Amino acid sequence: MRERDELTLSHRIDGYLEDLFVPKDPVFEQALQEMARNGLPEINVSPNEGQLLYMLTKLSGARKVLEVGTLGAYSTIWIAKALPPEGRVITLEYSSKHAEVARRNLERAGLSDRVEVRVGAGLATLPKIAEAGEGPFDLFFIDADKPNYPGYLDWALKLSRPGSLILSDNLLRNGDVLNAGEPGSSEANEIIAGYNRQLATDPRLESIIIPLSRGHLDGLGVSVVRS
Ligand SMILES: C[S@@+](CC[C@H](N)C(=O)[O-])C[C@H]1O[C@@H](n2cnc3c(N)ncnc32)[C@H](O)[C@@H]1O
Repeated sequence: MRERDELTLSHRIDGYLEDLFVPKDPVFEQALQEMARNGLPEINVSPNEGQLLYMLTKLSGARKVLEVGTLGAYSTIWIAKALPPEGRVITLEYSSKHAEVARRNLERAGLSDRVEVRVGAGLATLPKIAEAGEGPFDLFFIDADKPNYPGYLDWALKLSRPGSLILSDNLLRNGDVLNAGEPGSSEANEIIAGYNRQLATDPRLESIIIPLSRGHLDGLGVSVVRS
């Protein structure tokens, strides 16, 4: 199959899955509109990946969730909707502008009481969460600046318990990870390729990366902390 045909097919399959499986909840559309109105970048998870996050949260039975990288809280809403009534999410965001949009979106979604947005650099906030004894968390979603992924994983492991789920976004980089170690591979690419090797070999984890495609190929890392 030619590359362009593959791209068209991947878009069509993505639309097919979205039509079949993603609930038509206006809260998600309104969140995306609010993000666009405020000029936030379109780097949120796709609706299909949102539904996957929702399913994984439900399947894991998670009650306490820690997300790194809020943006406008689009992924946060998917995760929070899958929690039981007593469930809680702490989500970390560097940009105060993004955090403001996120809080408005969470308010409109009726989720402000179960989600707290904390502003600051993830690697500065995570030690405070540990010091305050707010762990362990049942589920982590890592989706912020790529060079700090290894640091976020270290903290996720410290703040986890056996059986916690660690989800990490954007691990395939449209196939760029295949070129790691070759001339032209960026520093961020090298870090993510190393991160993927850690997910595969770290004795504390059992992992897989689920490829996700909507024209652009990427992948969600799914790891379980071993007993
Ligand atoms: C890919 S977006 C998150 C998308 C969101 N999870 C979703 O799918 O709706 C990454 C976010 O991480 C934030 N970010 C970047 N560097 C950060 C850091 N050092 N600490 C915390 N957040 C950071 C960015 O401002 C941006 O809002």
